[in-house]
Amino acid sequence: MNKGLKLFCLSALALFIMSCAEPKKNNEESVNKEQIIVENLMTRRSIRAYKDDVVPREIMDVILECGIHAPNGMNKQPWEIRIVNDPEILNGMTDAYLSDMDEDNPRYPKKDPKFRNMFRNAPTVVFIAMEPGMCSQVDCGLLAGNMVNAAWAYGIGSCIQMAPRDFLKSEKGKPYLEKLSFSEGYEFLMAIGFGYPDEIPQVKPRIKEKIRYVK
Ligand SMILES: Cc1cc2nc3c(=O)[nH]c(=O)nc-3n(C[C@H](O)[C@H](O)[C@H](O)COP(=O)(O)O)c2cc1C
Repeated sequence: MNKGLKLFCLSALALFIMSCAEPKKNNEESVNKEQIIVENLMTRRSIRAYKDDVVPREIMDVILECGIHAPNGMNKQPWEIRIVNDPEILNGMTDAYLSDMDEDNPRYPKKDPKFRNMFRNAPTVVFIAMEPGMCSQVDCGLLAGNMVNAAWAYGIGSCIQMAPRDFLKSEKGKPYLEKLSFSEGYEFLMAIGFGYPDEIPQVKPRIKEKIRYVK
């Protein structure tokens, strides 16, 4: 059993033992559990400013384990995942990405004093590639959703990003894509930045009218 899975199983076992230790008086405790999960989902935000520390390996392992337990079409798991903490790689990618961009371009990010790298400044970046297929983008989206929500439960912020896709598929990005060593037939889809938040963004409004019960 790998270290991550072992840690995950031990955490799950510890939670189970804790939940058995005190008999439930009424529904109160399970209501609290539901509230905790709902609050985690409702308070997560995309984070674009981070403290310097990378995500500790043992927490990252749990986040990844939660990710790969996402529902996915026919359990095909059409993804490959690479984790990069090395600032040299992330900075190298960023320099190559910026080398084509005019500094007068309003999107040129180095004007931001907090700018660290092209992955919305995250110290830990997860790269996801997919094996093309009918459900693959949805599956990878669910993988990403599980990961960002699991991360948030540990106080770790994240930002899903599809913007780096064009760069990594370009000539300048090619050496970096090769370094990620995805298997033959896999296409890079998205990056997810992770780290300890250095900002508290406001919730972005959601359009409730998009939901309708049909009678
Ligand atoms: C598929 C997908 C692609 C995204 N791509 C980017 C991106 O390239 N750059 C970025 O800064 N944010 C990106 N985001 C983050 C969204 O902008 C963000 O989730 C949205 O504005 C809602 O804000 P919230 O996550 O704080 O609730 C992406 C999110 C998703 C789900």
